[in-house]
Amino acid sequence: MTADAVPMVEANGARIPAIGLGTWDLRGRVCARVVEQALRLGYRHIDTAEMYGNEREIGEGLRASGVPRDKVFMTTKVWQDHLAPRELERATKESLARLRLSDVDLLLIHWPNPRVPLAETMGALCRMKQAGFARHIGVSNFTVALLDQAVALSAEPLANHQFEWHPYIDQSKVVAASRRHGLSVTAYSPIARGRATNDKDLRLIGMHHRKSAGQVALRFLIQEGAIVIPRTSKLERLTENLNVFDFTLDPAEMDEVRKLANPRGRIVDWSGSPKWD
Ligand SMILES: NC(=O)c1ccc[n+]([C@@H]2O[C@H](COP(=O)([O-])OP(=O)(O)OC[C@H]3O[C@@H](n4cnc5c(N)ncnc54)[C@H](OP(=O)(O)O)[C@@H]3O)[C@@H](O)[C@H]2O)c1
Repeated sequence: MTADAVPMVEANGARIPAIGLGTWDLRGRVCARVVEQALRLGYRHIDTAEMYGNEREIGEGLRASGVPRDKVFMTTKVWQDHLAPRELERATKESLARLRLSDVDLLLIHWPNPRVPLAETMGALCRMKQAGFARHIGVSNFTVALLDQAVALSAEPLANHQFEWHPYIDQSKVVAASRRHGLSVTAYSPIARGRATNDKDLRLIGMHHRKSAGQVALRFLIQEGAIVIPRTSKLERLTENLNVFDFTLDPAEMDEVRKLANPRGRIVDWSGSPKWD
Protein backbone atom coordinates (compact mmCIF):
# COMPACT_ATOMS: atom_id res chain seq x y z
CA MET A 1 0.00 0.00 0.00
CA THR A 2 1.67 3.22 -1.10
CA ALA A 3 0.69 6.71 -0.02
CA ASP A 4 -0.35 7.49 -3.61
CA ALA A 5 -3.05 4.79 -3.46
CA VAL A 6 -4.96 6.61 -0.72
CA PRO A 7 -7.78 8.67 -2.28
CA MET A 8 -8.29 12.30 -1.35
CA VAL A 9 -11.56 13.77 -0.13
CA GLU A 10 -12.04 17.34 -1.37
CA ALA A 11 -14.12 19.97 0.38
CA ASN A 12 -14.19 23.76 0.31
CA GLY A 13 -10.60 23.95 -0.97
CA ALA A 14 -9.12 21.20 1.21
CA ARG A 15 -7.72 17.87 -0.05
CA ILE A 16 -7.73 15.40 2.83
CA PRO A 17 -6.38 11.81 2.67
CA ALA A 18 -9.32 9.43 3.19
CA ILE A 19 -7.49 7.67 6.02
CA GLY A 20 -5.55 9.22 8.86
CA LEU A 21 -4.02 7.97 12.08
CA GLY A 22 -6.07 8.67 15.22
CA THR A 23 -3.85 9.39 18.21
CA TRP A 24 -6.08 9.84 21.25
CA ASP A 25 -4.50 8.01 24.20
CA LEU A 26 -1.17 7.46 22.43
CA ARG A 27 1.54 8.78 24.70
CA GLY A 28 5.28 9.21 24.99
CA ARG A 29 7.67 7.07 23.01
CA VAL A 30 4.93 4.72 21.80
CA CYS A 31 3.14 7.70 20.26
CA ALA A 32 6.24 9.00 18.48
CA ARG A 33 7.07 5.49 17.21
CA VAL A 34 3.56 4.75 15.95
CA VAL A 35 3.39 8.10 14.14
CA GLU A 36 6.82 7.58 12.58
CA GLN A 37 5.94 4.04 11.48
CA ALA A 38 2.51 5.04 10.16
CA LEU A 39 4.12 7.68 7.95
CA ARG A 40 6.73 5.21 6.72
CA LEU A 41 3.92 2.77 5.83
CA GLY A 42 2.03 5.31 3.76
CA TYR A 43 -0.26 7.23 6.13
CA ARG A 44 -0.26 10.91 5.17
CA HIS A 45 -2.76 12.27 7.66
CA ILE A 46 -2.42 12.52 11.46
CA ASP A 47 -5.20 13.54 13.84
CA THR A 48 -4.30 15.04 17.22
CA ALA A 49 -5.66 17.64 19.66
CA GLU A 50 -4.32 19.84 22.44
CA MET A 51 -6.43 17.73 24.82
CA TYR A 52 -4.58 14.49 23.87
CA GLY A 53 -1.39 15.76 25.49
CA ASN A 54 0.77 14.23 22.75
CA GLU A 55 1.44 17.02 20.25
CA ARG A 56 5.15 17.08 21.14
CA GLU A 57 5.51 13.37 20.39
CA ILE A 58 3.43 13.70 17.21
CA GLY A 59 5.88 16.34 15.98
CA GLU A 60 8.81 14.08 16.91
CA GLY A 61 7.29 11.16 14.98
CA LEU A 62 6.70 13.37 11.96
CA ARG A 63 10.29 14.57 11.89
CA ALA A 64 11.73 11.09 12.54
CA SER A 65 9.76 9.62 9.62
CA GLY A 66 11.66 11.68 7.07
CA VAL A 67 8.40 12.33 5.20
CA PRO A 68 8.38 16.01 4.16
CA ARG A 69 6.02 18.19 6.16
CA ASP A 70 4.14 19.32 3.05
CA LYS A 71 3.21 15.71 2.22
CA VAL A 72 1.36 15.17 5.50
CA PHE A 73 -2.08 16.48 6.42
CA MET A 74 -1.90 17.53 10.09
CA THR A 75 -5.02 18.16 12.15
CA THR A 76 -5.24 19.51 15.66
CA LYS A 77 -8.14 20.74 17.78
CA VAL A 78 -8.77 23.52 20.27
CA TRP A 79 -10.29 22.28 23.53
CA GLN A 80 -13.68 23.60 24.64
CA ASP A 81 -12.25 25.58 27.58
CA HIS A 82 -10.28 27.71 25.12
CA LEU A 83 -12.98 29.00 22.80
CA ALA A 84 -12.98 32.65 23.87
CA PRO A 85 -11.04 34.54 21.17
CA ARG A 86 -7.84 35.26 23.14
CA GLU A 87 -7.77 31.75 24.53
CA LEU A 88 -8.32 30.23 21.11
CA GLU A 89 -5.42 32.19 19.67
CA ARG A 90 -3.15 31.27 22.59
CA ALA A 91 -4.14 27.58 22.43
CA THR A 92 -3.50 27.45 18.67
CA LYS A 93 -0.06 29.01 19.00
CA GLU A 94 0.80 26.63 21.86
CA SER A 95 -0.28 23.62 19.80
CA LEU A 96 1.92 24.78 16.93
CA ALA A 97 4.85 25.30 19.32
CA ARG A 98 4.47 21.77 20.71
CA LEU A 99 4.18 20.28 17.23
CA ARG A 100 7.07 22.52 16.10
CA LEU A 101 5.10 23.51 13.02
CA SER A 102 4.36 26.92 11.55
CA ASP A 103 0.84 25.83 10.59
CA VAL A 104 -1.56 22.88 10.63
CA ASP A 105 -3.63 21.74 7.67
CA LEU A 106 -6.81 21.63 9.70
CA LEU A 107 -7.75 23.36 12.95
CA LEU A 108 -10.98 22.16 14.56
CA ILE A 109 -13.15 23.33 17.44
CA HIS A 110 -12.99 20.10 19.48
CA TRP A 111 -16.37 20.43 21.23
CA PRO A 112 -18.79 23.36 21.22
CA ASN A 113 -19.10 25.40 24.41
CA PRO A 114 -22.41 27.18 25.13
CA ARG A 115 -20.72 29.51 27.64
CA VAL A 116 -18.85 31.27 24.82
CA PRO A 117 -20.84 32.98 22.05
CA LEU A 118 -20.37 30.93 18.90
CA ALA A 119 -19.93 34.12 16.84
CA GLU A 120 -16.82 34.99 18.87
CA THR A 121 -15.36 31.52 18.54
CA MET A 122 -15.96 31.32 14.80
CA GLY A 123 -14.52 34.81 14.32
CA ALA A 124 -11.37 33.79 16.19
CA LEU A 125 -11.12 30.51 14.28
CA CYS A 126 -11.36 32.40 10.97
CA ARG A 127 -8.61 34.75 12.11
CA MET A 128 -6.34 31.74 12.75
CA LYS A 129 -6.81 30.80 9.11
CA GLN A 130 -6.33 34.36 7.88
CA ALA A 131 -3.13 34.68 9.95
CA GLY A 132 -1.74 31.52 8.30
CA PHE A 133 -1.76 29.30 11.41
CA ALA A 134 -4.27 26.90 9.80
CA ARG A 135 -4.77 26.16 6.12
CA HIS A 136 -8.31 24.99 6.74
CA ILE A 137 -10.76 25.17 9.63
CA GLY A 138 -13.69 23.11 10.83
CA VAL A 139 -15.65 21.81 13.78
CA SER A 140 -16.15 18.62 15.74
CA ASN A 141 -19.10 17.19 17.71
CA PHE A 142 -21.58 19.82 16.46
CA THR A 143 -25.30 19.11 16.21
CA VAL A 144 -27.09 19.92 12.93
CA ALA A 145 -28.50 23.16 14.40
CA LEU A 146 -25.10 24.28 15.70
CA LEU A 147 -23.42 23.42 12.44
CA ASP A 148 -25.93 25.61 10.57
CA GLN A 149 -25.08 28.46 12.94
CA ALA A 150 -21.34 27.91 12.69
CA VAL A 151 -21.45 28.07 8.90
CA ALA A 152 -23.60 31.20 8.95
CA LEU A 153 -21.23 32.90 11.42
CA SER A 154 -18.03 31.99 9.62
CA ALA A 155 -16.35 34.41 7.19
CA GLU A 156 -14.16 31.56 5.93
CA PRO A 157 -15.43 28.29 4.44
CA LEU A 158 -15.45 25.34 6.84
CA ALA A 159 -13.77 22.30 5.33
CA ASN A 160 -14.53 19.50 7.77
CA HIS A 161 -16.82 18.20 10.47
CA GLN A 162 -15.48 15.42 12.70
CA PHE A 163 -17.87 13.27 14.72
CA GLU A 164 -18.40 9.73 15.99
CA TRP A 165 -19.34 7.38 13.18
CA HIS A 166 -19.06 3.62 12.84
CA PRO A 167 -21.43 0.78 11.91
CA TYR A 168 -23.34 0.96 15.23
CA ILE A 169 -24.53 4.55 14.86
CA ASP A 170 -26.78 6.15 12.24
CA GLN A 171 -25.32 9.58 11.47
CA SER A 172 -27.32 10.24 8.29
CA LYS A 173 -28.77 13.56 9.53
CA VAL A 174 -25.48 15.17 10.51
CA VAL A 175 -23.78 13.74 7.42
CA ALA A 176 -26.47 15.29 5.18
CA ALA A 177 -26.17 18.65 6.96
CA SER A 178 -22.38 18.64 6.63
CA ARG A 179 -22.63 17.82 2.91
CA ARG A 180 -25.27 20.51 2.37
CA HIS A 181 -22.71 23.04 3.59
CA GLY A 182 -19.93 21.52 1.47
CA LEU A 183 -17.97 20.11 4.42
CA SER A 184 -16.13 16.81 4.34
CA VAL A 185 -16.87 14.46 7.23
CA THR A 186 -14.37 12.61 9.38
CA ALA A 187 -15.53 9.50 11.22
CA TYR A 188 -13.92 9.22 14.64
CA SER A 189 -13.89 5.95 16.60
CA PRO A 190 -14.47 4.32 13.18
CA ILE A 191 -13.99 0.78 14.48
CA ALA A 192 -16.06 1.59 17.57
CA ARG A 193 -12.98 1.47 19.86
CA GLY A 194 -12.27 -2.09 18.74
CA ARG A 195 -15.81 -3.49 19.03
CA ALA A 196 -16.19 -3.76 15.24
CA THR A 197 -13.10 -5.96 14.98
CA ASN A 198 -14.96 -8.79 16.82
CA ASP A 199 -18.32 -8.39 15.08
CA LYS A 200 -19.55 -11.68 13.59
CA ASP A 201 -21.63 -10.01 10.83
CA LEU A 202 -18.72 -7.83 9.74
CA ARG A 203 -16.42 -10.84 9.91
CA LEU A 204 -18.75 -12.82 7.62
CA ILE A 205 -18.82 -10.02 5.04
CA GLY A 206 -15.06 -9.74 5.29
CA MET A 207 -14.57 -13.45 4.56
CA HIS A 208 -15.85 -12.91 1.00
CA HIS A 209 -13.13 -10.32 0.44
CA ARG A 210 -10.37 -11.90 2.58
CA LYS A 211 -10.58 -8.91 4.87
CA SER A 212 -11.04 -8.56 8.63
CA ALA A 213 -14.16 -7.26 10.36
CA GLY A 214 -12.35 -4.03 11.20
CA GLN A 215 -11.39 -3.51 7.57
CA VAL A 216 -15.05 -3.95 6.56
CA ALA A 217 -16.08 -1.26 9.06
CA LEU A 218 -13.48 1.16 7.68
CA ARG A 219 -14.35 0.33 4.06
CA PHE A 220 -18.05 0.89 4.78
CA LEU A 221 -17.36 4.42 6.05
CA ILE A 222 -15.05 5.22 3.14
CA GLN A 223 -17.71 4.12 0.64
CA GLU A 224 -20.15 6.37 2.52
CA GLY A 225 -17.76 9.22 1.66
CA ALA A 226 -16.16 9.60 5.10
CA ILE A 227 -12.54 10.15 6.05
CA VAL A 228 -11.57 7.57 8.72
CA ILE A 229 -9.01 8.00 11.52
CA PRO A 230 -8.55 4.63 13.26
CA ARG A 231 -6.11 4.55 16.15
CA THR A 232 -3.79 1.72 17.09
CA SER A 233 -0.78 1.43 19.32
CA LYS A 234 0.27 -1.80 17.54
CA LEU A 235 2.56 -1.47 14.57
CA GLU A 236 1.13 -4.56 12.78
CA ARG A 237 -2.39 -3.14 12.92
CA LEU A 238 -1.31 0.03 11.15
CA THR A 239 -0.92 -2.01 7.95
CA GLU A 240 -4.22 -3.83 8.41
CA ASN A 241 -6.13 -0.58 8.89
CA LEU A 242 -4.48 1.02 5.87
CA ASN A 243 -5.29 -1.86 3.52
CA VAL A 244 -8.88 -0.90 2.79
CA PHE A 245 -8.59 0.50 -0.72
CA ASP A 246 -8.31 -2.74 -2.72
CA PHE A 247 -11.84 -4.11 -2.32
CA THR A 248 -15.41 -2.86 -2.65
CA LEU A 249 -18.53 -3.71 -0.66
CA ASP A 250 -21.51 -4.26 -2.94
CA PRO A 251 -24.86 -2.53 -2.26
CA ALA A 252 -26.27 -5.56 -0.42
CA GLU A 253 -23.20 -5.69 1.85
CA MET A 254 -23.45 -1.95 2.51
CA ASP A 255 -27.09 -2.51 3.56
CA GLU A 256 -26.02 -5.36 5.85
CA VAL A 257 -23.59 -3.05 7.63
CA ARG A 258 -26.20 -0.25 7.86
CA LYS A 259 -28.51 -2.65 9.70
CA LEU A 260 -26.06 -2.79 12.63
CA ALA A 261 -26.88 0.82 13.60
CA ASN A 262 -28.97 1.16 16.74
CA PRO A 263 -30.06 3.99 19.05
CA ARG A 264 -27.70 2.83 21.81
CA GLY A 265 -24.70 2.55 19.52
CA ARG A 266 -22.94 5.75 20.58
CA ILE A 267 -19.63 5.23 22.43
CA VAL A 268 -18.48 8.72 23.30
CA ASP A 269 -20.58 10.05 26.14
CA TRP A 270 -22.04 13.54 25.56
CA SER A 271 -23.83 13.65 28.90
CA GLY A 272 -21.02 15.50 30.68
CA SER A 273 -20.71 18.23 28.07
CA PRO A 274 -22.33 21.63 28.69
CA LYS A 275 -25.89 22.03 27.42
CA TRP A 276 -27.47 24.78 25.31
CA ASP A 277 -30.73 26.26 26.61
N1 LIG B 1 -13.19 14.79 17.89
C1 LIG B 1 -13.41 14.04 18.96
O1 LIG B 1 -14.08 14.43 19.92
C2 LIG B 1 -12.84 12.64 18.99
C3 LIG B 1 -13.35 11.72 19.91
C4 LIG B 1 -12.83 10.42 19.89
C5 LIG B 1 -11.83 10.08 18.99
N2 LIG B 1 -11.32 11.03 18.12
C6 LIG B 1 -10.21 10.72 17.17
O2 LIG B 1 -10.54 9.53 16.47
C7 LIG B 1 -9.50 8.57 16.66
C8 LIG B 1 -10.04 7.15 16.58
O3 LIG B 1 -11.03 6.92 17.54
P1 LIG B 1 -10.79 6.04 18.86
O4 LIG B 1 -9.37 6.11 19.23
O5 LIG B 1 -11.80 6.52 19.84
O6 LIG B 1 -11.25 4.57 18.47
P2 LIG B 1 -11.01 3.55 17.23
O7 LIG B 1 -9.99 4.05 16.31
O8 LIG B 1 -12.37 3.21 16.70
O9 LIG B 1 -10.52 2.25 18.00
C9 LIG B 1 -9.28 2.21 18.65
C10 LIG B 1 -9.19 0.87 19.40
O10 LIG B 1 -9.27 -0.21 18.47
C11 LIG B 1 -8.11 -1.04 18.60
N3 LIG B 1 -7.70 -1.41 17.22
C12 LIG B 1 -7.24 -0.58 16.26
N4 LIG B 1 -7.01 -1.24 15.12
C13 LIG B 1 -7.33 -2.53 15.35
C14 LIG B 1 -7.31 -3.71 14.56
N5 LIG B 1 -6.91 -3.67 13.29
N6 LIG B 1 -7.72 -4.88 15.13
C15 LIG B 1 -8.15 -4.92 16.43
N7 LIG B 1 -8.20 -3.83 17.21
C16 LIG B 1 -7.79 -2.65 16.69
C17 LIG B 1 -7.07 -0.23 19.31
O11 LIG B 1 -6.31 -1.04 20.17
P3 LIG B 1 -4.72 -1.23 19.96
O12 LIG B 1 -4.07 0.09 20.24
O13 LIG B 1 -4.40 -2.29 20.97
O14 LIG B 1 -4.53 -1.69 18.54
C18 LIG B 1 -7.92 0.72 20.16
O15 LIG B 1 -8.24 0.10 21.41
C19 LIG B 1 -8.92 8.97 18.02
O16 LIG B 1 -7.69 8.34 18.29
C20 LIG B 1 -8.87 10.45 17.86
O17 LIG B 1 -7.78 10.84 17.05
C21 LIG B 1 -11.83 12.29 18.11
